[in-house]
Amino acid sequence: MKKASKGHDQSRSVPCSRIDFSGFSKRFSHIISASQFERVDLDVVLSKAAEMEKLVKTSGGSSILKGKVMATLFYEASTRTRLSFESSMLRLGGCVVGTENAREFSSVSKGETLQDTIRILNGYCDVIVMRHDEKGAARTAAGVSRVPVLNAGDGPGEHPTQALLDLYTIKREFGEVEGKKVAFVGDLKNGRTVRSLAQLLVHFKGVELFFVAPKALAMKDDIKDLLKRKGFKYSETEKLEDVLPLVDVLYMTRVQKERFASEKEYLACKGVYVLDAKKAASMKASAIIMHPLPRIDEIAPDVDEDSRARYFEQAQCGLFVRMSLLSLLIAKE
Ligand code: CP
Repeated sequence: MKKASKGHDQSRSVPCSRIDFSGFSKRFSHIISASQFERVDLDVVLSKAAEMEKLVKTSGGSSILKGKVMATLFYEASTRTRLSFESSMLRLGGCVVGTENAREFSSVSKGETLQDTIRILNGYCDVIVMRHDEKGAARTAAGVSRVPVLNAGDGPGEHPTQALLDLYTIKREFGEVEGKKVAFVGDLKNGRTVRSLAQLLVHFKGVELFFVAPKALAMKDDIKDLLKRKGFKYSETEKLEDVLPLVDVLYMTRVQKERFASEKEYLACKGVYVLDAKKAASMKASAIIMHPLPRIDEIAPDVDEDSRARYFEQAQCGLFVRMSLLSLLIAKE
């Protein structure tokens, strides 16, 4: 399927009428986990994101965050999350300070604790966006922070803002999330994006999940237990081919090299699932292909021209969703 046949409506957005945006900043002191979100909160974030998409496309931005400062504190590498947060703040008229390699370039290298680092940043900024290699670090930071802390990924824990942009991408595509069949493929054990997205999808009736992973990288029980408790159907398989004709959303993920104890264990799992144009041919014409990126070899370059590939647009949706979150959390109501 070539790009020329692309049939989806790029300008489709979530309707903003009847959404009550007030009070979001009172309900959310920090954004640490996807589990914090109720359905009403998702409607607020997604509707505001649609507003932000229109704003970017018509005038590039606004000045609603003029005078506000965002600190980015990244202990792990990032392209999309850090730069889309920074772009979001700048497009809304705010300023950005930060460090992209906090372990080396901040006073953590001299032995300063995360808690003290956060206490100090509280005197300099209005919001903190933090990525850390340890699960739970964002919660620790939030515990001592007077300004909102946004979890930009905490080790193998969660990546809630990625899950929100994934949800926005799905809703923007289909107009609704209800009833969609979604396959998560790859490193589901260490993949924080799929853990967070699964927790958001339980707010949408009729969603069915397919977990495609080798046994060593299977989805953890806490997420499967959540699905059981909430009455959602899910299945597990090791074969990508089993799910390709069935799903509306194929969500590929990278095998997370940095989470393996040894190179040998990583190499045993690397390259286990590769979607190429030949395999994609068995997918529905209406399906979409997503990936939080970066990709290594999970999606062959010949899929990029497929009309169903959405991973680059998905990354751009991160801008709209992060503009939404920043405006909801720190703009004056
Ligand atoms: N999807 C994602 O988190 O990408 P980065 O690691 O580049 O931020």
